[in-house]
Amino acid sequence: MTHIPVLLEESVDLLVHNPNGVYIDGTFGRGGHSKKILSKLSSKGSLIAFDKDLEAVNFAKSTISDKRFSIFHGTLNSKSIKHLTYGVDGILFDFGLCSTQLDDAERGFSFGKAGPLDMRMNQESGISAMEWLSKATEKEIADVLWKYGEEKHSKSIARLITNTQQRQPITSTAKLAGLIEEKFPRVGRKHPATKTFQAIRIYINDEIEDLKINLLTADHLLSSGGIIVTIAFHSLEDREIKEFFKPSRTEVHKDIPLNPIIEKKYNSITNKLKPTPEEILNNQRSRSAILRAYQKNE
Ligand SMILES: C[S@@+](CC[C@H](N)C(=O)[O-])C[C@H]1O[C@@H](n2cnc3c(N)ncnc32)[C@H](O)[C@@H]1O
Repeated sequence: MTHIPVLLEESVDLLVHNPNGVYIDGTFGRGGHSKKILSKLSSKGSLIAFDKDLEAVNFAKSTISDKRFSIFHGTLNSKSIKHLTYGVDGILFDFGLCSTQLDDAERGFSFGKAGPLDMRMNQESGISAMEWLSKATEKEIADVLWKYGEEKHSKSIARLITNTQQRQPITSTAKLAGLIEEKFPRVGRKHPATKTFQAIRIYINDEIEDLKINLLTADHLLSSGGIIVTIAFHSLEDREIKEFFKPSRTEVHKDIPLNPIIEKKYNSITNKLKPTPEEILNNQRSRSAILRAYQKNE
């Protein structure tokens, strides 16, 4: 299945306010938003994209041939600043996973598809879910399931995982999902392993920390009047975003060496937006999306 971009018109309409400007797509995926942004730019405009996933970067290189476009592997942080100029007009983040990642059994993101328990967005760094589960203590696993999945059975699932692990390593998505389903049979449509998979994925990919670094870096690069649009898919991400853009907050961060004290003065330029019922009907995966957009004060 290809990836259907979420809140496409709404996000790009809010983002692109200067056709000659410099824009960043911090989460290229399969390029749905990037292509739309490029369609709104003049020949003087430019778009720089990032993705942690090498497959997304290779996809971009093989499908977009446009002098105004460039893409880099990784996340938008102080290291990636070297590829950029300051005075960026707009930055988009469409966090989370692409359908293409979820649908590829070999990536190990989906409890519905039997594959190795990997779950890394960036296959060139970090450790797989399988490796983490083999090293983590019961308490560490329970904490992750609670913190990143709000899983109310976090302690029992963590115990189940560590007890099973002692007999035989959990190396596949099917094994982990089956184990949880056996203990907590499915009630309704939601698979009982949904929150466990989400929590482990967020943890091993450092998604919340990266989101914070992305926003700090974006703040650093954005010109006055520039716009940040974010699309989040769960409440943890959305909470961080809301918190970040609270008026006049002062932030100090170890990863932003150039100007560690940043006064954030942003205006929200839209109420939080959600997909319409029509969009959800056409793309079930859009149902939890929340869009926010902010403009940096002049
Ligand atoms: C929801 S998809 C983006 C879809 C894209 N907007 C499109 O229309 O095709 C998220 C993509 O961003 C990547 N990603 C997620 N969080 C990231 C981050 N903090 N930094 C860089 N890439 C990230 C994932 O690997 C994935 O390919």
